[in-house]
Amino acid sequence: MQFWTLDEIEQHAMADHEVGEEISPGVTITRRRILQIGLAGAASLLVGGCATPGRKIDTARGSAGRLLTIDQLVARLRPDATQLIASDRPDETAYLAAVSSLLTRYNPDEPWAMNEMGESGWSMNTAAWMPPVVVFDIRMRPGSKIHLHDHRHYNGVLLCTEGSVRCRNFDIVQPDGQRLNIAAGEVPTDTDFLIRQNKDTTLGHGQLSTLSRDRDNIHHIEAGPDGCSLADLFTYFRREARSYELEWDGQPLSKNGDTYKVAWKS
Ligand SMILES: [Fe+2]
Repeated sequence: MQFWTLDEIEQHAMADHEVGEEISPGVTITRRRILQIGLAGAASLLVGGCATPGRKIDTARGSAGRLLTIDQLVARLRPDATQLIASDRPDETAYLAAVSSLLTRYNPDEPWAMNEMGESGWSMNTAAWMPPVVVFDIRMRPGSKIHLHDHRHYNGVLLCTEGSVRCRNFDIVQPDGQRLNIAAGEVPTDTDFLIRQNKDTTLGHGQLSTLSRDRDNIHHIEAGPDGCSLADLFTYFRREARSYELEWDGQPLSKNGDTYKVAWKS
């Protein structure tokens, strides 16, 4: 859902914006101090300078215990995140398990509110900005959709904190004769290509959906009949990490099939 790169967001954040201003499409400054923290630490964190070689990710660490504020959650996660993005062979499965465990303890500090949605029916605010970890707070009106998009050079965990949301995940079908390194950001360059649906899940309160750079990386989000509130935690492997939208007609190639023809949206 982030259609600007970190650099682009920061360039706009460097200007003297005020709380409440939109710094990228759908991204509004809600708490100025978070941006200040992120700007101070972003450059060093993204080159992996804080990583601790060989330290194992403790996936059980967040499995129990008290609720966490967003600042506490990100502070706990950031060492694992910096290690992950610095690794030659990052274990995204273990990392996403650790994120999920922590995120289930997240205690949003703002009340549920269905306002300032605009035409799209959903809005996205920055809850925490500490690259390589960024958390967005998303509110969606009943039935509204966040259309098909990928997550290039980043992974994510989506937590439903209110209401319900349908989350469909897809992967690119490798084109004939090609072997794309999807995790490294290689994607089909053909006008049309195929994606395969891996999951079609409705999340309720406290339930999660994860995606890595090369597993379930494309998704389509649709709010349930009562709308939803979501926390979306992203970990960026590169400064140029961002999302790209896809066009489709939503019809599988065969009846009851799981494969769809798509094209990058220009
Ligand atoms: Fe997304």
